[in-house]
Formats: sequence, C-alpha cells, structure tokens
Amino acid sequence: MPVPPEIEARVGELREQVAYHRDRYFVEDAPEISDAEFDELYRELEQLEAEFPELVTPDSPTQQVGGAAASTFAPVEHVIPMLSLDNAFTLEDLLAWGKRIERQVSDPVAFVCEPKMDGLAISLLYEQGQLVRAATRGNGFTGEDVTANVRTIKSVPRKLKGEAVPERLEVRGEVFMPLAAFEGLNRRQGEAGARLFANPRNAAAGSLRQKDPSITASRALDIFCYQPGVKEGGPRLRTHWETLDWLRDLGFPVNPRIERFEWLDDVYAFSESMLEHRHDLGYEVDGVVVKVDDLGQREELGATSKAPRWAIAYKFPPEEKTTKLLKIMVSIGRTGRATPFAQMEPVFVGGSTVQMASLHNQDEVARRDVREGDTVIVRKAGDVIPEVVGPVVAKRKKNARRWKFPKQCPACGQPLVRVEGEAATNCVNVDCPNQRWGRIVHFAAAMEIDGLGEERVRQFIEAGLLADAGDLYSLTVEKLVPLERIGERSAQLLVDNVEKSKAQSLVRLLVALGINNVGPAAAQDLARELGHLDRIASASQEELVAVDGVGPILAQSVQEFFARPRNLEVIEKLRKAGVNFEGPVRATVPEEEQTLAGLTVVLTGGLERFSRDEAQAEIEARGGKVTSSVSKKTSYVVAGENPGTKLAKAEQLGVTVLDEDALVKLLETGQV
Ligand code: IVH
Repeated sequence: MPVPPEIEARVGELREQVAYHRDRYFVEDAPEISDAEFDELYRELEQLEAEFPELVTPDSPTQQVGGAAASTFAPVEHVIPMLSLDNAFTLEDLLAWGKRIERQVSDPVAFVCEPKMDGLAISLLYEQGQLVRAATRGNGFTGEDVTANVRTIKSVPRKLKGEAVPERLEVRGEVFMPLAAFEGLNRRQGEAGARLFANPRNAAAGSLRQKDPSITASRALDIFCYQPGVKEGGPRLRTHWETLDWLRDLGFPVNPRIERFEWLDDVYAFSESMLEHRHDLGYEVDGVVVKVDDLGQREELGATSKAPRWAIAYKFPPEEKTTKLLKIMVSIGRTGRATPFAQMEPVFVGGSTVQMASLHNQDEVARRDVREGDTVIVRKAGDVIPEVVGPVVAKRKKNARRWKFPKQCPACGQPLVRVEGEAATNCVNVDCPNQRWGRIVHFAAAMEIDGLGEERVRQFIEAGLLADAGDLYSLTVEKLVPLERIGERSAQLLVDNVEKSKAQSLVRLLVALGINNVGPAAAQDLARELGHLDRIASASQEELVAVDGVGPILAQSVQEFFARPRNLEVIEKLRKAGVNFEGPVRATVPEEEQTLAGLTVVLTGGLERFSRDEAQAEIEARGGKVTSSVSKKTSYVVAGENPGTKLAKAEQLGVTVLDEDALVKLLETGQV
C-alpha cells in the first residue's frame, strides 16, 4: 500500500519535533516540554514507522540512541561503551527481576542497592594515578571531553591515593548538583535576570558544558563514583562491594548510603525506604539501582546491546500532591500561541515548590475539567515540568463554574483565533506586546547575549528602546544608563555582549529568528547546505526540501517567515549592524570531481591533519556520505588515534579500514 501523503508529512513533522526537543534536552539543557509529552511524540513516531516501515530512515531519531553529543567539546569515544539501565517502574517489577536473576544463576545472589543519582554520568580517566581526561556519556559510545571543567569539581581526585595504583584506570560516576547549591544558583540567576534552571540535573549538565571552566568552578558540583571502566593493573576484584571499598581507598567519593543485601525482602525494604526519604538526602534521587554483587555472576548474566542484565533501575513513581487552583490564566508566547495555565497555592512536590502549571490548550482544560477554586492533584515526575492531573471532584464547591477560554488576547485585547482542526488558539496580532517580548527574549537567549533576560527585555521595551530583535544592535551605554537598576558598568557589559553576538554562527542566528519548526537540528541542515541567510531566505520550496533533513512542513515555515515584511525589516537591521549571515564555509568540488559519490564512510578516533568536521566536509564535498555507525553497507572505516568500538565492528563485518594517509589518497584520487 502506498504511504498516504498526510502520514508521510506527519512523520516528517514528528521527526523534526523529536529532534528539536531532544536537542533542547541533551544539548541545550533547557527542555521546553515535559518528559511525558516528549514520550508521546516519540511513541507516535515509532508507531507510524512500525506501520509504514518504508518511511524509516537511518537519520530518524528512533534509529539513534540518546542525545546527540553537543558540538562545543571534542568528541571522546568510550573504549567500553557506557550502557544505560533497564527500568522497573514498580516495586513488584523490581522483585520479579530479582527472582528471575536468582533463578538464572546457580549460587545464592547478593545484591548491592544504590541511590540512583539524578545527575549525569561521567567517565574519569587516570594514567599513572593522574587525572588525564573526563568525558560525558553522550550517546553511550561517544561523549564530550569536559576535562577542564571536571577538574574544577573539588571532590574529583586529581591524583589517586595508595600504593597499588593501576597504570590506567577509568572510573565512572554521576556528577550532580546538591539541592542547596541548586537553589542558591537559581536565586543568583534570577537576580541577574538570567535564565533559571528547571532542576538540579539540568543545572549540573549546563554547568559542566560551560566554555569557561571558572563558571563551572563557581557552581558547587559534586560526584559519587560507582564503577570502574577500563582497568589495567591494580588488584583482582571479585565483588562490587569490594570494588566500592577499593574506589574509596583510592580517594573517590562513594555514596555512603549504598548497602549490600542477601535477601530480596531487604532490597524491597531499602527501595521503599529510599522512596519515602528521597527528599531528605540533600540531592535529587530518582530511583534505586540494584546490582548483582558477584562479578562472576555478572559475567554469567551478560548484557544486551543497551543495558546489563545484572542491574536494574527502580524508578520512583511521579510524586502527587493536592493544592488549591486559584486562577486559570492565559499566556501569549512569542509565536502568538495562547496557552492556558493554572495558578495554584504553592505546594512542594517532586523536589521543588510549584505554583504554576501549563494546561496546554482549550481541549485539555475541558478534558480535565479543572475549575477555579478546585482542589487539584499536581504531579511532578522527577524531571521537568509540573502537571495538573485533575480536580478532586468530591471537594468541589457547588457554584464552581466551567472555565471558558477568553475571546480576547489578555496582552493586546485583539480577538484570539482558534486554528481550525487544531487544539491551538492564537493571538494573530504580530504587534502584540507579549509576542514581541517573547521573540526578543528568545533571540537574546539563542544568540547567547548574557545579561539580557526576561526582565531586562521587558524594561527596555517599556522604555521604548526595543521594537524588535534588530533594535538590540542600536542599544548604547548612553541610552541604557538613565534606566532604573542599570549602572554604567552593567550597561557597558550588556552592549559588549550584544556586540559579541554579531559573530555568532548562522545556525544560532537561524534558531534565534524563531522560524516555526526550525530548531538547532534543522538550522544545522539549512546552514550547512545553503550557507548564507540570503540563500535560505530566497530558496524555493524545491530547493528547501532538497536539503537533507528538511521536509515540506519545515520548508513551508521557512518560506512563510521570509515572506513577511516585518521579518525582513528585522533582517535588514541585523545586516546593517554587521551580524554574521554566513554559514560554515564548505569546499565545493566541481561535478566531475565527485570522486566519492556513492561511498559511505565512518570516522573513528582522532586524525592529525583534519578535525572531525573538516574530514567530514572534505568527504561530503566530493559526494561521499559520512555516517556514525558501521554496517555492511559502509564502504570504509577511517581509524585515527585511539579508535573506538567502530574499528572492532569494521573488522567483524570485514569492512576495509583506512589510516589517515589512505584517507588523504582517497580524497585526492577517489581510490585507495
Ligand atoms: S550504574 C551499566 N549506578 O543512571 C550500568 N548508574 O539509567 C551503568 N545512575 O547512565 C550505570 N546513579 O547516569 C549506576 N548508582 C548508580 C547510578 C547510575 C545514577 C545513572 C547513570 C546511568 C543511568 C542509567
């Protein structure tokens, strides 16, 4: 059966959305939707792809593990992949797993129970006892080199203690931000008008990805280590329990709450008690990791490609509390979307105080039938965004009235318009002050203009200094100083930061413009293929969809954006100010020299003469394709210094492996 065009379009749209939100989560550390909403998008995509397998492409987000490695730091391939864990969502599932394990191994099993730290996994590498490298988990195979930043974490040992230190030792653990540090950081961010972090995990991830290590140093990160990775030398270890003791002796911080049990009943009791006391620990814990203690038994049990069979993560259920819903209001976002939200009596749930939650759209309010004055159930899963589950109807006052969606925009008074066939309602007045504010705040954040947060933008708009993002570039110290709460120094700093943003990449600029559906992934694709803002602006529908990764919906959004005179005005202001419109320079090799057309190349390990991006650009310029995983279809694997598991995979599949010299020859001649 041919795939109906609306399905194909929906799959394209879902891919763009999943890729966008995945980037927001993993790369930007600033999620916009809850994990549950993300899962819903992802599941819909998976279902459609299962129904229409011909639509599955290797670059679909369903075909990739975890987040993309963000591009600011050098890639590090993990010699032993950093696997993830299978989950149990109830204590019963946890017990069932334990019983299965007991049946699968012959001898009695002891279990080690550990708090599951809600931070981010890190790999620390020591050579001759000295810390030489720290890398994030990334997608499990390739992470990012964050050594300079990790060195600023006080509890990470620079030098190992004791006599029998192994030649080479990799230790893995979880970097996290203690709650007190998180609250202090958000307080300071708020005072400086900077973006607040959603939770300690995002704050830890954001702090670790700073380009300037002195910022990381100011962020009070901490670490608990839980297992060795690569280990050359050192004692022979028989159990996990013994391993943890050894790690402690070497100077690694190991969580003191870890316990060892010989009975599953005790594992159950530990997990139940951890659930009850999860908020008394001073750091966020989102579950319990239960591991088989004996390393021999672990070997017997083995691992799947994603997770070991000898461990499981019992994930705590989302927390729920009741509170009073005071008022339902509507906020207007930068795109004009009118989003109803609940204002509630503050309630402490899921590790933070909640007093507002999105109700998404008109249909959602109707479906939940929440009314002003209701007692409502609020839920916050260990992660991001709080949610109003529904009303406690038994406690409802008799005179409580159904809530009605307002007819006028609360910000500008113009009529709100419900989009036909969709749940969304919009304010369509592009001059609406809230939209304008949202667009400028978004622009400033995407262009990394430090010190220009929500409050500042509001202040500048009210002072008549900003009508759109283009006006940022005409701000001067003289114009800012007369405003309240701005001294000469902070005015100068702000003007300098605005000036610096002119050199941001085309990718950032594209994201900053706020074109519908254009997130970092789509912006990368457009910038790489079309190379200049003016080319993107003037590209036809056909030229846009010819860009790898761009579908018809995205193409249409781009065209609509550049058809609006108001947007073109902003772009002219940016051009006059000297904002960079150029994309990464791409070598273009004439048609007759497309010597690598039809070839697929995988790169692994570091090269001397090229950075990873340069090697990729050279190959692509000659018509070749670079992919991230090795399969039978791979033409060549290029292995540099410290190649990762891809080399082993190539050898296993009999794919030809090239060294750097052979790559150079291939580029020059198209032959090996
Ligand atoms: S062991 C192969 N122990 O949970 C086993 N992981 O969901 C590797 N985590 O990526 C992990 N606390 O970031 C382990 N005590 C703990 C943990 C822990 C938190 C994280 C870790 C891992 C994720 C898997």
